[in-house]
Amino acid sequence: MSSKRIAVIGTGYVGLVSGACFAYLGHKVIGLDIDEKKIELLRKGEVPIYEPGLDRILRRALERGNIEFTTDYEYAVKNSDFIFIAVGTPSKEDGSADLSYVESAYKSIAEYIGNEDFKIIVNKSTVPVGTGRWAKEFIKSLLEKRGIKNPEERFEIVSNPEFLREGKAVEDFMKPDRVVVGADNRDIAGMVASLYEKLQPAMLITDLPTAEMIKYASNSFLATKISFINEIANICEKLGADVTVVARGMGLDHRISPYFLNAGCGFGGSCFPKDVKALIHTAKSVGEEPKLLSSVMKVNEKQKLRPIEKLLKHIPELKDKTIAVWGLAFKPETDDMREAPSIPLVRKLLSLGAKVKAYDPVAMENAKKVFKEEIKTFGEKLLFVDDKYEALEGADALILITEWNEFKEVEFDKLKGKVIIDGRNIWEPSVMRQFCVYESIGRV
Ligand code: UDX
Repeated sequence: MSSKRIAVIGTGYVGLVSGACFAYLGHKVIGLDIDEKKIELLRKGEVPIYEPGLDRILRRALERGNIEFTTDYEYAVKNSDFIFIAVGTPSKEDGSADLSYVESAYKSIAEYIGNEDFKIIVNKSTVPVGTGRWAKEFIKSLLEKRGIKNPEERFEIVSNPEFLREGKAVEDFMKPDRVVVGADNRDIAGMVASLYEKLQPAMLITDLPTAEMIKYASNSFLATKISFINEIANICEKLGADVTVVARGMGLDHRISPYFLNAGCGFGGSCFPKDVKALIHTAKSVGEEPKLLSSVMKVNEKQKLRPIEKLLKHIPELKDKTIAVWGLAFKPETDDMREAPSIPLVRKLLSLGAKVKAYDPVAMENAKKVFKEEIKTFGEKLLFVDDKYEALEGADALILITEWNEFKEVEFDKLKGKVIIDGRNIWEPSVMRQFCVYESIGRV
């Protein structure tokens, strides 16, 4: 495989993992970020996020001289042929994707494309369907303004969506189920596809809007599976069925597959909620009314508070009761708090007058930032403790929100006599009920 020159704009989860992995595969990578402090850390091989395996890959790439970091757009653009954009596209108030970071990246890139250049600009950021074609016109107009000759021949836009799960991002990059590349020019799409050659992935080459849509449709489908099984779980409870066995039974059908059928207290994270909302917004903007997707979000919002409904059955008045909360990150193996079910759940507990003692193995610092206002308002009523057992001291009940491994291996003695709400079905009801009041999701 020949080594290619790649710039990656944005060193967040997606940009850093993609850049480090491309460098590990032997390409020459320049990682760019506007955050100087972050760049300083990365130059030393320090990873500012919690992502298993990433520090090893990054250090290896640095040792081999395959990756460097800069804040200088001119340097990054001039010394690369492929420019990957991996900046954030957060949700706006109305659910649409905020493209301001993407737009500013296009502007900065366009400033340094010269008369003799040909740059392949690849969108890894999740952008609404149609953004790629719009970007072509946008960049062309910026180059025209700068007096660049035949601006449309100086670059091509490609969509190459990411399917990286946090906590498994390196593994997902190195062993992808598929790589999707979309472009109006198939040869250029092929050139981007060849960057992944060493991985020998299943490859799908298509046009720009189709590639953009694959990303939204995939995430929306997975979110749908989760809301579906959560709805089934809630019905199971009323009928005496066990949702975990129902899911297993369903998953044996190849057409359904066993994945993403774990009932719990809803999905969070940087992708599912944002992408489903953005797809709803895009659909509405073209006159469609996506009823299924809207329901996926509604079911999810309600599911996040399901553990509290269960708690109230056993402790109807939460005022001055102490509730331990285990797990704050939106899922295990990450310190990410974005859209975490723990956020509305802890807020609701506080609003009902409960005292909350919360613990998470790695997300404590981020959680304290998220609950900054509550820490001020509720003082001693919201405590972040350093140990899972410390959270249990004096607690009337425990709600488990995130299924970290360290919670699975628990000293059951410490849970004796408490009301336990297992929001992720990690414990066995028949065992738990021997020594505590135990509720889980979709199991009686
Ligand atoms: C997701 C996609 O999986 C990835 O392909 C995409 O590119 C980015 O978004 P991520 O957000 O990191 O990845 O997490 P994921 O493992 O998919 O879980 C998302 C949420 O769904 C978590 O809150 C998790 O707890 C929840 N979930 C997942 C369930 O509630 N049940 C399941 O069966 C699976």
